[in-house]
Amino acid sequence: MLKPVPIARVRPGMWFHRLGGSGYHHAFVKRGFLLEERDIAALAEGGVDELIIDTAQGLDVEAEPPAAAAPPAAAARPPAAPLQPRYTIDEEMQNARHICLDAKSKVMALFNDARLGRAVQFDSVLPMVDAINASVGRHPDALLSVARLKSHDEYTYLHSVAVCALMVALARRLGLSESEVRDAGAAGMLHDLGKAVMPIDVLNKPGALTDDEFRVMKSHPERGFAMLKAAGGVPDCALDVALHHHEKFDGTGYPHKLEGDAIPLMSRMGAVCDVYDAITSNRPYKKAWGPAESLQRMVGWKGHFDDLVLKAFIRSIGIYPVGALVRLESERLAVVLEQGEGSLLAPRVRVFFNARKREPVFIKDLDLAASDCGDRIVGLESPDKWNFPSLDKLWLAQ
Ligand code: C2E
Ligand code: SIN
Ligand code: SIN
Ligand code: FE
Repeated sequence: MLKPVPIARVRPGMWFHRLGGSGYHHAFVKRGFLLEERDIAALAEGGVDELIIDTAQGLDVEAEPPAAAAPPAAAARPPAAPLQPRYTIDEEMQNARHICLDAKSKVMALFNDARLGRAVQFDSVLPMVDAINASVGRHPDALLSVARLKSHDEYTYLHSVAVCALMVALARRLGLSESEVRDAGAAGMLHDLGKAVMPIDVLNKPGALTDDEFRVMKSHPERGFAMLKAAGGVPDCALDVALHHHEKFDGTGYPHKLEGDAIPLMSRMGAVCDVYDAITSNRPYKKAWGPAESLQRMVGWKGHFDDLVLKAFIRSIGIYPVGALVRLESERLAVVLEQGEGSLLAPRVRVFFNARKREPVFIKDLDLAASDCGDRIVGLESPDKWNFPSLDKLWLAQ
């Protein structure tokens, strides 16, 4: 008989059938085996709160312990961290999903207005920016992770949301004031508004553009700028970002071939955030690169970005960004879940694979910054080399 059992009541000798609860771990868990003490500890540590056991193949749950008895599993748990944020990262992922969904539909409405020649309502942007800013303030990685995952047909809208979040994180890292952080977010949200009036078949073309098509596409910064200017009430820096996010630091960008500091700071920030989100997303014409590989490539594109801004950007999202596949000293593979408190080299990761034996292991979350962790990142792994079917799901479903 199959029975859901809370993890605190799971005992060695029970037969593991599958995980209970929301069940997101399924992908890499072998089905069916006899539970040992260390399996139970690993599951509890991995945040699993319920299992489905099969009482036909293993022990059944004991009767409820008397109320006075100490809960055995709780006693073995590590003490709570001294500084508990008001939301856990898991809770913030939930918030972030709602915020993204809501923002996506608002951005669609905004683009629709632009397409129909209606005045763009700038006022509708600020509440979105505030919600995103607040989420990034609680757990920067939550919203950034959610916004990176997009299907190619929703790219244009979620790209606006993602660039808003990246701009907010970068502006905070650069120590800009609260009002500048907010403006940076609004600028990110609106930077590609000009794409609303680009021919839809060019925008969604699955292959490379012809010279003529690219010439048309290159008018989107000016088109966006004009619409935002006409809307009124849009901060100057958001106008700058719309107009200049495709300028390059060496003066080879468009529309004005501005060079170096002649490109406003917010626009240099916009260039970095825009390209990072573009290349880490699946788009109609190109598959996503991994987050860490994307940073490496951007560092290699000499002349495109302001180096100081790019460095600050990397510090804001981490050398091993959320979603990056890493190899640990223990020869296990893990995906990055969240940046560490202190060190960019020691994020929180989810271990799921033994690279030496080439087989899945129990999903387990590790805080590499914890003094008793005993493991560390030795390098990045290329997801292409391993071909895991659902790497993103591993951390998306925290
Ligand atoms: P987007 O797809 O949002 O990309 C934004 C910017 O990210 C690009 O601006 C470019 O600077 C950078 N980027 C994106 N993919 C790559 C890449 O594979 N390599 C490098 N080095 N940089 C990359 P760009 O090139 O000025 O393009 C502006 C917009 O024009 C793009 O926005 C996209 O909407 C469209 N576009 C550009 N190339 C193509 C293409 O080959 N096919 C299609 N369908 N659209 C394209
Ligand atoms: C992103 O992929 O948009 C950012 C993810 C992160 O590194 O936090
Ligand atoms: C990489 O980007 O190459 C590492 C893997 C990942 O980021 O998903
Ligand atoms: Fe653009």
